[in-house]
Amino acid sequence: MSENNVKNIPVITVDGPSGSGKGTICQILATKLGYHLLDSGALYRLTALAVIKNDIPLDDTPAIEDAALNLDVIFKPSSDGSEQKILLNGEDVGVQLRLDETSAMASKVAAIPEVREALLTRQRKFRQNPGLVADGRDMGTVVFTDAQHKVFLTASPEIRAQRRHKQLIEKGVDARISHLLKSIIERDERDRTRTVAPLVPAEGAFVVDSSNLTIDEVVQQILDFIENS
Ligand code: DC
Repeated sequence: MSENNVKNIPVITVDGPSGSGKGTICQILATKLGYHLLDSGALYRLTALAVIKNDIPLDDTPAIEDAALNLDVIFKPSSDGSEQKILLNGEDVGVQLRLDETSAMASKVAAIPEVREALLTRQRKFRQNPGLVADGRDMGTVVFTDAQHKVFLTASPEIRAQRRHKQLIEKGVDARISHLLKSIIERDERDRTRTVAPLVPAEGAFVVDSSNLTIDEVVQQILDFIENS
């Protein structure tokens, strides 16, 4: 497909911090619109998992870049809108991707510019007809700067800490809200001020604060925005 044709394929970018509800909202939007879904965080998590599984030292940038470039991954979408399956080298890694060890490594590899660059082409290949919902941190600011619709989804640190607390309790993990809140505030500051792909709303993005909204209300606001812009 020519570059011009690709640019005509609609993309809705949804950026924002974790705990804003992005993952759930993007899955619902993609199902409702019949669009493809890019979970870009999963690509950083997959790279992290490859680094962990192959014992690659964090200072070996060329090897990590190589791992990011050569990820053998298959995303298997589900027809009912529930979570998609992710296979790395044929192995279902859905659970491993969500482990704390993987999350911590993902945030380290995501700070390496060569890794971000290596994942660019792979992310852009998700732009296929009839359209794409792209979930991430830099979808509207870096990866799909020409997206037709850009959304920035956020929520107050207090609400995000409460949501994370609930998730952990459900997993049987004990956690203090005050500690979670402190680490969320620190991470927000790091994400906003880092030099590579800082977490900021893209120019012209529709900013939605999900703190006091239900999932359905957020989805509806975004659908209204898409229809009217
Ligand atoms: O959204 P998530 O928690 O699955 O993201 C995993 C990590 O990757 C997290 O540290 C943020 C980072 N990330 C990023 O830097 N850029 C993206 N587009 C998506 C995720």
